[in-house]
Amino acid sequence: MRIAIASDHAAIALKATLADWLRGEGHDVADLGPETTDSVDYPDYGFKLARHIASGQATCGVALCGSGLGISMAVNRNPACRCALVSEPLSASLAREHNDANVIAMGARLTGPDMAIACLEAFIATEFAGGRHQRRVDKLSAPEC
Ligand code: RB5
Repeated sequence: MRIAIASDHAAIALKATLADWLRGEGHDVADLGPETTDSVDYPDYGFKLARHIASGQATCGVALCGSGLGISMAVNRNPACRCALVSEPLSASLAREHNDANVIAMGARLTGPDMAIACLEAFIATEFAGGRHQRRVDKLSAPEC
């Protein structure tokens, strides 16, 4: 799979860990930055990741910041993205199975590297179930709010 990954300065180390793990699993990883721990703004990297998904340059994405909150909000501003903030594998799996999430978000200050890998592994391994979930996911793409 072609997978894009982006973070802010708070999640640089976790980004490197997850990118290495993904490459080890044979995935084609696009690291969208940042490259240093200099302070950056999570919306800039969340929007960059979202554009990558929306344009079809990546099948799915990994979004990381200190809590995972800010960057997940940024990614979800793009209607092409369904970004799920998770901290354990069952939610990661359900985000795929029920919500057809195409971006997983995690917080580097809250979720350790082993748990983050377990979440990412569950996310990638799980297929969207379709059926009744498709109708609900379709509604997400045409918000009435
Ligand atoms: C950066 O200090 C921090 O605010 C950011 O990584 C994230 O947690 C925001 O939601």
